[in-house]
Amino acid sequence: MARKIIIDTDPGQDDAVAILLALGSPELDLLGITCVAGNVPLPLTSKNARVICELAGRTDVKVFAGCEKPLQRRLVTAENVHGKTGLDGIELPDPTMPLQEMHAVDFIIETIRAEAPGAVTLCPLGPLTNIATALQRAPDIAPKIAEIVLMGGAYFEVGNTTPAAEFNIHVDPQAAEIVFKSGIPLVVMPLDVTHKVLTTRARVEAFRALGTPVGHAVASWTDFFERFDMAKYGSQGAPLHDPCVIAYLIRPELFEGRHINVEIEIQSELTMGMTVADWWRVTKRAPNAMFMGRADAEGFYQLLTERIGRL
Ligand code: RIB
Ligand code: CA
Repeated sequence: MARKIIIDTDPGQDDAVAILLALGSPELDLLGITCVAGNVPLPLTSKNARVICELAGRTDVKVFAGCEKPLQRRLVTAENVHGKTGLDGIELPDPTMPLQEMHAVDFIIETIRAEAPGAVTLCPLGPLTNIATALQRAPDIAPKIAEIVLMGGAYFEVGNTTPAAEFNIHVDPQAAEIVFKSGIPLVVMPLDVTHKVLTTRARVEAFRALGTPVGHAVASWTDFFERFDMAKYGSQGAPLHDPCVIAYLIRPELFEGRHINVEIEIQSELTMGMTVADWWRVTKRAPNAMFMGRADAEGFYQLLTERIGRL
């Protein structure tokens, strides 16, 4: 029985690779894609999600537009990393498939209410605004959600947007606070893990060598996407953040972490959006998240390349 998931996303080249990994994996039943403002504004993230589905020949996937700004703070975007369109690196045709009429938050609420308790896993790949809004509007859904497996935060790797905070959490720290205090089982893929799965030359060429339009697009996106991180960190490639969430659902043994307490800084501007992870359990704060720290990079890229090769 395929695992029912909703991907909440702000595409973004790495979000695109995560969505394609999900579409190429029969273990997963993608109930819908809910879009949020993040890497680029909502009109672009909700367009990009459809561009990605059409690239994979999946115009049947339901795509919803969600929140256009964080709960309280003004929107911070990341065109410097993802380009003006959010999917720079390759020219793809505008989507022909329509956006769903329903608001993404309503889709999340109605889907959780309609499905059996514990049937649906939420997979946020961007700021947590849609998820937090759904939990605020419909508290009854919290105990029915199987798990939230999200990309966000950082501890040993420190921040990528401020010295203290990772982008997804920094954009909407109040939303992250709601999710991390929700009591819903959380699996967190922080920069500590995503910075261990870098797009080396060989790995990008393996995508291109698939010889398919999807393989070509993924290679072009990662070629574009990696230039920012390589310049910033002097690394041999860029971290492919968001596909870690989907890879975990398919092969959890690729990742290792600790079930610890993680709280969100929402007071100080200096550390706003920092994920304060009690990795060494020095506090008495109750564990609320499986916080990942290690990844099998080779195994991750083998899975990614094989599944994308199916599209
Ligand atoms: O910090 C990395 C995260 O921010 C990724 O999800 C990337 O797509 C951006 O949203
Ligand atoms: Ca993202």
